[in-house]
Amino acid sequence: MRIFVTGGAGYIGSHFCVAALQAGHDVVVFDNFCNSDPGVPSRIARIARRPCSVVTGDVRRKQDISNALRSAQPDLVVHLAGLKAVGDSVARPLDYFETNVGGTACLLEAMKEHGVHRLIFSSSATVYGQPVELPLKESHPLNPTNPYGRSKLMAEWLCDDFQRAEGNVSIVVLRYFNPVGAHPSGGIGDDPVGVPNNLMPFVTQVASGQRERLHIFGTDYPTPDGTGVRDYLHVCDLAEGHLAAISRSDTPGFVTVNLGTGTGYSVLDVVRTFERETGRAIPVAYGKRREGDLAQYYADPARALHLLNWRARRDLGEMCRDAWAWQRGSSTE
Ligand code: NAD
Ligand code: WQD
Repeated sequence: MRIFVTGGAGYIGSHFCVAALQAGHDVVVFDNFCNSDPGVPSRIARIARRPCSVVTGDVRRKQDISNALRSAQPDLVVHLAGLKAVGDSVARPLDYFETNVGGTACLLEAMKEHGVHRLIFSSSATVYGQPVELPLKESHPLNPTNPYGRSKLMAEWLCDDFQRAEGNVSIVVLRYFNPVGAHPSGGIGDDPVGVPNNLMPFVTQVASGQRERLHIFGTDYPTPDGTGVRDYLHVCDLAEGHLAAISRSDTPGFVTVNLGTGTGYSVLDVVRTFERETGRAIPVAYGKRREGDLAQYYADPARALHLLNWRARRDLGEMCRDAWAWQRGSSTE
C-alpha cells in the first residue's frame, strides 16, 4: 500500500515510516519540519534500506495537503502531524486548536476531495483526564484537563462526525499512552528541542552528562513509591500497532483503540531500570508535583489485542537500552 504520513519526520512518525517501509509499504512523508530535522527522512530510508518520498507542507493549509494527496494518490493516511506539549498548550491554546483541530479538518476535506477513504489518527490517553477507574478502557469518560488534550478529543469528534456523514470511510483512532525509547539502530529517536518536558529524554540527558540531575516531580502521590505512575510503551511497539491498525482500516466505520502495555511504572522504577540496564548513574532531586500532572494512569490493552491482534512486546529494560543508544548516537546495526 501507499501510505501518506503527516508528521512522518517526527518521533513517532519516523519509527512508523521505518516499520511501514520494512513491511513493504510505500511511504510519503508530509511535514512542515517545525519540530523535526529535515534530515530525518533520509535516515528513515537508510535504516529501512528503501526510499522514502517527502513533501514539505503544512496541515493548516488545505491546498498543501490537496496538492500532495493529488500527487501521491495514497491508499491510506496516517495522521501524526500535531503539537503535543501540554504545558505549551496552556500558554498558546489557539496554536494547538489551529494545528490539531484545524489541521485535521483540512486533511479530512482533502481526503474527501481526492477519494482517500482510510485514516489512522494519532490521539492520546490525555483525552481521558483524571482516571475514574483503572486500567483505562476506551469506554472511560473523556474529560481532558488541558488545551492539548481537548484539541485531541475535538479532532476525534471531527473524525467521528465525518465518518458518519461519509459512510464509506474507515477511521481508526489510536490513543497512545507514554511512548519512549528509540529504534535499536540508534539512527532515529526522541529529539526534543530545548529542555525536555518528558521523563525519558531528560533521564538520557542526565546519563550523558548534559543535565546535572533529574528533578522528580512529586513523591507524595497515592502510588506504591509516591512518584507518578505511567504506562510506558516502546516506540517500536507503537509503530507496529499502527501496522496492525492498517489491517483493521479496510472496514468502514469509526473505532478507538488504546495502545499501551497495560503495566504502570513509577518514576523511580524508570530511574532504577535505566541505571541497571545502562550502568549509568542518574542523580536525582526530589521536588514538588508538576502542575497538571496526574498520579497514575495505564491502559487496558484488551481491545487492541482483540481488534488488531496487537500487544506490546518490549519491556522497560529494552526501552531504557534503546533510549540510551539513541542518546549516545551509537548505531548497533
Ligand atoms: P513530534 O513533534 O516529534 O512529531 C510531530 C511532527 O509533526 C513533527 O515532525 C512536526 O514537524 C510535524 N508538524 C507539526 N505541526 C505541523 C503542521 N502544521 N504541518 C505539518 N507538519 C507538522 O511528535 P510525536 O511525539 O511524534 O507525536 C506525533 C503525534 O502523536 C502527535 O499528534 C501527538 O499529539 C501524538 N501523541 C504523542 C505522544 C508522545 O508522548 N510523543 C503521546 C500521545 C500522542
Ligand atoms: C512522566 C512522569 C512526571 C519529567 C506527557 C503528556 C501526554 C503525552 C505523553 C502527548 C510524570 C515525571 C517527568 C521530569 C519527572 N504526550 N517527570 N521529572 O506527563 O505522563 O505525559 O507525555 O500526548 O499528553 O502529558 O509524561 O514523561 O512528562 O512524565 O518527575 O523531568 O515523569 O511527573 O509522573 P506525561 P512525562
